[in-house]
Amino acid sequence: MKGKALIKLLPFIFSGFILSGARCQTIQPFKPHLSIGEADRKADEILRRMTPDEKAAFIAGDDMLIRGLKRFNIPSVLMADATGGIRLAMDESGKPKWGVTINKSTAFPCPLLLAATWNPRLAYNYAESIGEECRAGNIHILLGPGMNIYRISQGGRNFEYFGEDPFLAARMIENYVTGLQSTGTIATLKHFLGNQTEFKRRRSNTVVDERTLHEIYMPAFEAGINAGAMAVMTAYNQVNGQWCGESDYVIKELLRKELGFKWLVMSDWWGVYDGEKVTKAGLDLEMPWATALKNIKEQTADGKIQQSDIDRMVKSILRTCFAMGVYDNVNAKTESDFDKHEQVALNTAREGIVLLKNSNGILPLSNNKARKIIVTGKYVTKLARGGGAAYVNGYNNVNLLDALKSSFGAQIEYIENPDADRLRRADIVLASVGTFDEEGSDRAFSLPADEEKQISGIVSANKNTIVLVNAGGGIRMTGWAGKAAAILYGWYPGQTGNVALTEVLTGKTNPSGKLPVSIEKRFEDTPGYGYLPNGKDVTDQTPENEHPIYDVHYNEGIFVGYRWNDSQKIDPLFPFGYGLSYTSFACSKLKITRGSASGDSVMVSFEVKNTGKVAGAEVAQVYVSDPKASVPRPEKELKGFFKVFLKPGESKRVEIVLNKRSFAFWDVHTKSWKAEPGEYKILIGRSSREIELSSVTNLQ
Ligand code: BGC
Repeated sequence: MKGKALIKLLPFIFSGFILSGARCQTIQPFKPHLSIGEADRKADEILRRMTPDEKAAFIAGDDMLIRGLKRFNIPSVLMADATGGIRLAMDESGKPKWGVTINKSTAFPCPLLLAATWNPRLAYNYAESIGEECRAGNIHILLGPGMNIYRISQGGRNFEYFGEDPFLAARMIENYVTGLQSTGTIATLKHFLGNQTEFKRRRSNTVVDERTLHEIYMPAFEAGINAGAMAVMTAYNQVNGQWCGESDYVIKELLRKELGFKWLVMSDWWGVYDGEKVTKAGLDLEMPWATALKNIKEQTADGKIQQSDIDRMVKSILRTCFAMGVYDNVNAKTESDFDKHEQVALNTAREGIVLLKNSNGILPLSNNKARKIIVTGKYVTKLARGGGAAYVNGYNNVNLLDALKSSFGAQIEYIENPDADRLRRADIVLASVGTFDEEGSDRAFSLPADEEKQISGIVSANKNTIVLVNAGGGIRMTGWAGKAAAILYGWYPGQTGNVALTEVLTGKTNPSGKLPVSIEKRFEDTPGYGYLPNGKDVTDQTPENEHPIYDVHYNEGIFVGYRWNDSQKIDPLFPFGYGLSYTSFACSKLKITRGSASGDSVMVSFEVKNTGKVAGAEVAQVYVSDPKASVPRPEKELKGFFKVFLKPGESKRVEIVLNKRSFAFWDVHTKSWKAEPGEYKILIGRSSREIELSSVTNLQ
């Protein structure tokens, strides 16, 4: 048919990555420079000649470095944070610390915005750019990607991760890992495992069941490992009573045995305490210095620490670095194409900004609609970004005011505190609101009362108010969302994100981001509610080691995010997968074809058409539902997606292959994935709450 193209998602691989699909639709996993056998041989040669003192020193870091071994011509190896770009720290003389050889780094939009693009190709490009900057900066190990699942909107580090859905996170992570490591930079999957709160993060104990770990909290790590990630960082918290970095269950059982991880495992900074447990559980490297692993001589003499464990740790570090070619400087690179990276950052922001509301088509703003625009609020002259290890300064930073002025010129007036009269007289009001999120503390779901009051005042004064939200996760919008003419979610959009945001306002960019999280109406609606007093005490100044252990019970089990809302019949303010466009789409002609006699490979195909007047992109989402299972299961689960770019009137046929894993749950009795025979529903939606097509298929 004319104007129709066919997009096959499996098994075709475009530019080294797979476009989308279920678990079987793997990307081309990364292959290190040396095989594990070759790397082991090299590691053994060194290990044999090392003294006990050298070994003891080697298994603990030296600030941001893995120590070198001069005697063997082994250089020290530099690490840097984090997932959304390199955090540069300067010394007193203004030079980058730790021997980093670049003096600027690109501030990309935060990873949660990257997840909102639902575009795995961007994850590849984004991470490849960061990897190139690492190599230009002499950095061999990136302390990212972070991928802890978004369980509660208050989480201080949500912006550093990839949202609430394990399938979406997994597809983005595998592309991130292959993109980053293609440059010779080691990816560090963090924080393994169950690290969902920053509140008392170094004293918290995640109480969680095995099925939930497998279905919700492990798949992104699994995808990263299958993609070839060369390092993992353990989390600060305990899982079921054991510190992650000292836990047999977390490291030996889950990470090493089940997920088959063979490379470097490091602790989070000052995140382990007991040398005996650390060495036995399977950790390789304590960061940033020896704390649990100090006085190794004494601990070995006491029989607490075994020499064979120390050897195993040394070997794992050496193995990883040899395999990656770090010691041989195989991936030497001295230049970084910052212009290209800045463009990747901009393209990511263009695709990750989410349009949540657009009453009466107020957006895009055409010139006649926007004679006089007042801009006010929190992030007008300063850039919204997250803090902590994920803070990236960037360069060529464009604030909102400058971005707006370059498009709207004299129509824009910035007023810090406009009175109701000024607001009323404007044709359009742009209200910037948001949060500053960072590791070490959670934040309230609601903005401070005076800020909420101020926003309510603005939307009441002018019915043409467009609210621009910059936050690292969901915020309470119920008080004012109804009266706002439009709401744009810009997350932390990076150094050029405000350019993208302005393009969305003018219509130069048609928004195509979709929420990677559910945004609830009230915090009480979330499964995590009650883990701490609502909105109170989110920062706790008590010295960390004086806290008692703080249990966080994951009582909701696998029912996280939209799985929770569906099961509890809660309507969120904006559902997972939701986002508007300036055009409209229609899905039709759903076809389900069995790929094998047993029916455990299923081809789902359907047509997506741009039925509106401008070019745009739709994210077609495939959910699977098992209405009659032997265990409680979510009403639906995301198992495939694809972002389709369409010209006006154009349609494309999308094919997504589901495999056995797409239908399976984690069976605690057999300790394996189980897809029960019977009927399953296949749902095609443009969000988790807008299902357009559905059909059934049978597994035997
Ligand atoms: C964070 C890690 C980070 C490390 C090094 C810790 O506080 O939890 O994510 O990589 O610091 O900066």
